[in-house]
Amino acid sequence: MLGFLKNKDMELPFAESYKIKMIETLKRSTREQRLQWIKEAKYNLFKLKSDQVFIDLLTDSGTGAMSDRQWAAIMTGDESYAGARSYFEFRDTVSRIMGFEYVLPTHQGRAAENVLFSVLVKSGDVVPGNSHFDTTKGHIEFRKAHAVDCTIDEAFNTTLEHPFKGNINIAKLEKVLKENSRERIPFVIVTVTCNSSGGQPVSIANLKAVYELSHSYGIPVLFDSARFAENAYFIKLREEGYQDKSIKEIVREMYQYADMATMSAKKDGIVNIGGFIACNSADIYRDACTFNIMFEGYVTYGGMAGRDMAALAVGLDESTEFDYLETRIKQVEYLGNKLVEYGVPIQHPIGGHAVFIDAAKALPFVPKEQYQAQTLGIELYIEAGIRGVEIGTLLADRDPVTRENRYPDLELLRLAIPRRVYTNNHMDVIAAALKNVFDRRNSITKGYSIYWEAPIMRHFTVELEKVD
Ligand SMILES: Cc1ncc(COP(=O)(O)O)c(C=O)c1O
Repeated sequence: MLGFLKNKDMELPFAESYKIKMIETLKRSTREQRLQWIKEAKYNLFKLKSDQVFIDLLTDSGTGAMSDRQWAAIMTGDESYAGARSYFEFRDTVSRIMGFEYVLPTHQGRAAENVLFSVLVKSGDVVPGNSHFDTTKGHIEFRKAHAVDCTIDEAFNTTLEHPFKGNINIAKLEKVLKENSRERIPFVIVTVTCNSSGGQPVSIANLKAVYELSHSYGIPVLFDSARFAENAYFIKLREEGYQDKSIKEIVREMYQYADMATMSAKKDGIVNIGGFIACNSADIYRDACTFNIMFEGYVTYGGMAGRDMAALAVGLDESTEFDYLETRIKQVEYLGNKLVEYGVPIQHPIGGHAVFIDAAKALPFVPKEQYQAQTLGIELYIEAGIRGVEIGTLLADRDPVTRENRYPDLELLRLAIPRRVYTNNHMDVIAAALKNVFDRRNSITKGYSIYWEAPIMRHFTVELEKVD
């Protein structure tokens, strides 16, 4: 009788779309060692030596694993000072993928900002955008201009599920465009995905609306493109009408709504160093070339070796493939879902490159003046040698005029997952370690105070001491 019952096929689980060819040994440590090391590092996670870290989630920037094809490209990179073949391969790839005519290499993303903003941003200018990244804001404020955040309000409620929390609120943007003269607004910046609000994507509909509105005021649009491929993945999954399009098609469509781009290639270029500016304006390109030569290098290498550009050309092609993106983003989701299962408060929906812990909720008894997210980061390091990064009050810096601390709407600990580096066993360790810290939150009531800080971008070098 039973023989008539057909076995139901088991659904096959998901597996990574790559196999591992090379490994790097990780160093373990004891809690006592970590207590000593973090004290020596003045309670600044940036100051730890990498050998003192077991799982490094400080950033997904420049920390990814290159593929065999990228390493092969490294070997054939052309190191000519001018007109290197590797530059043209890289330039043609950017043009094919993003659709821009002019491509200027820089050594990383902030260098692209420095060069392009030297051309475009003047004292007193206003630059609206969606939660500007810290270096972007830094380069704006350094020029005595103002970054105005026009992100949708939903982005600041960590528990709210919204498919495109990186979106710009069109009414907020229009208010800024109305209240300031055209000459005072060099461009509108859209960060895809939006790092500072939790690795959250921007929809095509919103990109189009921002572009049309900005253009109706004669203002160009700049994409901060660090995670443009991850943004396209979310569009494919979440925006109606895009399910059947390839990632490369979606990327091309996204960039129809941009006049220029800055790129930190250390993210979705999957290289360890690199960046670029891309645009369609011959005038902007020409002016940027002058600054590039001053700050970065000649216009066909701009701070990158020929082999870096060769690896980047391959990386851009790989990062805009669905299988790669699915593997990458599913790992981030895996960690996020484990944390949800353990009750740890995180930013929803789970971001593309990182899981963001809501530190204000995770450590409710630490006063915000004592840096809750930084305190959580230190506790996680002491617990298991895991290094995250504070995206909160330290990063928000002081108001440039009043010099008062700026308390951001979200106090987050970011756990950024390097591309193709860790396994899901590592994700399990991270989740268990955070659960342990979270479970003893009632006993964590004191944080840290600043002993020394730099006048701008202080979080990189700040020195802290324990509050007794
Ligand atoms: C959205 C965004 N823009 C710009 C940058 C700056 O790029 P880089 O670190 O290559 O200078 C980063 C770096 O994390 C970023 O996430």
